[in-house]
Amino acid sequence: MDRVYVFDTTLRDGEQSPGATMNLDEKIRMARQLETLGVDIIEAGFPIASQGDFEAVQAIAAAVEKPQIAGLCRAVVGDIDRCWEAIKDARHPRIHTFLATSEIHMKHKLGKTADEVIAMIEKAVSHARQYTDNVEFSAEDASRSDWDFLVKVAETAIDAGACVVNIPDTVGYTQPFEYYELIKYLKDNVRNIDKAIISVHCHNDLGSAVANSLAAVRAGARQVECTVLGIGERAGNAALEDLVMALNTRKELYDVETGINTEQIFPSCRRLSQIIGMPIPPNKAIVGANAFAHESGVHQDGVLKNRLTYEIMTPASIGRTSNDIVIGKHSGSHAVRKKAEELGYSLDEDQVKVLFKAVKDLADKKEQVFDEDVEALILESVYRRKD
Ligand code: KIV
Ligand code: ZN
Repeated sequence: MDRVYVFDTTLRDGEQSPGATMNLDEKIRMARQLETLGVDIIEAGFPIASQGDFEAVQAIAAAVEKPQIAGLCRAVVGDIDRCWEAIKDARHPRIHTFLATSEIHMKHKLGKTADEVIAMIEKAVSHARQYTDNVEFSAEDASRSDWDFLVKVAETAIDAGACVVNIPDTVGYTQPFEYYELIKYLKDNVRNIDKAIISVHCHNDLGSAVANSLAAVRAGARQVECTVLGIGERAGNAALEDLVMALNTRKELYDVETGINTEQIFPSCRRLSQIIGMPIPPNKAIVGANAFAHESGVHQDGVLKNRLTYEIMTPASIGRTSNDIVIGKHSGSHAVRKKAEELGYSLDEDQVKVLFKAVKDLADKKEQVFDEDVEALILESVYRRKD
């Protein structure tokens, strides 16, 4: 089975998310958690951006052992030198250099012609290769670039020594079937593609970041760039937890494996949420409070008989300890009995009937019935009645 490398950019693109700034200590704590999670590459920051970023990248490089440590830099000599300075003591350093390749970026942002951009890529990658053979090149705004120009960009980067060519959907504009076709086109047309790994980096402006990344893997991409909880510029990046669990759960479609220890997914998301002070939305896929909660009576009944009726993965597989049954007005008597058992009360048929009625009465007045409410109802309605 092919390996898909997980490139985590929580500490670089993720930190560019409004409200997600982390101090040095927090970045190191998060980097250690990412190491435990099993990511292959940690993008630790953008060293030229500020002295603080430079020092954070240096500190992360010293703090973790197994993952490769990438530093981001524009495709100019000064940026690359500064990046190398920050990552050079990492056990496995990677220089990640980027340049825009779309017409709109080349003309309006860079003020460069296509030929000048090709020359800059050649020079930047060759310069980075003087420091290390682990060089990634990113064609910023690749998904809005001319496909044949992208072929030339990729060939230039690979000839100059890049071992990873990243094809970002920088503005989250592409749709999954288009992205699939683009990656396939590159695989079929880039002359020297066997010497490099194709990587993807998707933003979530149209809510398609995870779907796009999965489509790209299906087309042959073997590195995915993502962030924990999908934090990142604007609407964010592809969420690591969604991507990894989709690849794992639908192995028959993707036929790839990652090095992620999935039982560390929930602890990693919780760690990030605590550090940046951003709660995990209850309906967040994989790790939201409701992701494994079953409120309707029909669903609860099914899950109690056989979890597979309504669950496509187990809470334990992502490191969640319990399968929360939420009691509400749609709950059935089986779930109410189970909840009572979870709380330590073994009720007979008549007692369950009494409790079930009491729960329904309360649920009509209250949106969610908490464990404490159920316990109070057991004590008040069931036992007092019996006494
Ligand atoms: O979104 C993007 O294009 C980026 C690159 C620097 C990889 O973040
Ligand atoms: Zn990005």
